[in-house]
Amino acid sequence: MQAICFKEPGGPENLYLGRVPKPEPKDGEVLVKVYATAVNRADVLQRKGLYQVPPGASEILGLEAAGVVSGFGTGVKSNFKIGDKVMALLSGGGYAQYVAVPEQLLMPVPSHLSLYDAAAIPEAWLTAYQLLHLIAHVKEGESVLIHAGASGVGTAAIQLTRLFCAVPLVTAGNPDKLKVAEKLGAAAAFNYKEGDFSDKVLQFTQGRGVDVILDCIGGSFWEKNVRSLATDGRWVLYGVMGGKAVNGDLLGKLLFKRGHLLSSLLRSRSLQYKAKLVRASLSRLCHTLRQQAFPHH
Ligand SMILES: NC(=O)c1ccc[n+]([C@@H]2O[C@H](COP(=O)([O-])OP(=O)(O)OC[C@H]3O[C@@H](n4cnc5c(N)ncnc54)[C@H](OP(=O)(O)O)[C@@H]3O)[C@@H](O)[C@H]2O)c1
Repeated sequence: MQAICFKEPGGPENLYLGRVPKPEPKDGEVLVKVYATAVNRADVLQRKGLYQVPPGASEILGLEAAGVVSGFGTGVKSNFKIGDKVMALLSGGGYAQYVAVPEQLLMPVPSHLSLYDAAAIPEAWLTAYQLLHLIAHVKEGESVLIHAGASGVGTAAIQLTRLFCAVPLVTAGNPDKLKVAEKLGAAAAFNYKEGDFSDKVLQFTQGRGVDVILDCIGGSFWEKNVRSLATDGRWVLYGVMGGKAVNGDLLGKLLFKRGHLLSSLLRSRSLQYKAKLVRASLSRLCHTLRQQAFPHH
């Protein structure tokens, strides 16, 4: 089969259409003919040689895909049939004509979504769901500061924060992205390139700070993040796009706020964990995606 491959790490010009063996679905796996996949930041980092593929995962790029069921390994118990439209959370392998997926990580594509839209759902939306619900335990009425508000995970997190009846605030790097975030439900959106976003967060929350921070930036934002955090707040680190190192008295400042520093990675989680996440999130995600397609229903 064909797949998008690269030999040397680098820019997108290093990608080429190559030939690789078609996957054989193993016990409990479903073979999916891929119609569409998505570009996640982890794919970009992997292509640049900056992201280590977890042991056992496919070396082929692509953390999510949508397509149709085209075969089964032995022992598959679910009711999927040949030709069913599905989307899948992958630990790699989506940039290819076929991918073999554990049946627990397949989701039916809601009828109002095209396969092309569906391909961008599993990784970003399950990550956002996991961070908000399973890691931060966001509650009704709480405020959530979401960095990279126009990113894949960020746009999903804004909508899910609203679904959990909490209040999303975001940062992003240009006015168009701030508008996108506001359109999706952000109560306020701040350009982190224009001034200190923590001033604006404190102003918005009347000096209290936010209950939760979803942070994929890390190093470059740490000081403003601690300042933006409410006493007893939860700061969830899930990416380090702004650097891994911290210089300064982070621990002292965090302790003073009695802040909780949490972190999470989805790709390296066990199949059991991901399967539970897919099951738990499915009905709520479908509800939000339907609302998005038919906002007046
Ligand atoms: N832990 C997990 O399980 C998990 C799962 C999925 C994704 N992630 C992480 O989540 C992050 C977002 O992924 P994605 O695929 O949704 O991203 P994406 O759609 O590619 O968007 C990333 C955006 O982040 C902003 N950004 C990049 N570097 C920045 C910096 N130094 N300071 C501030 N903003 C910066 C940029 O927007 P602006 O123009 O607004 O700066 C950029 O467009 C990545 O770090 C990814 O690795 C983690």
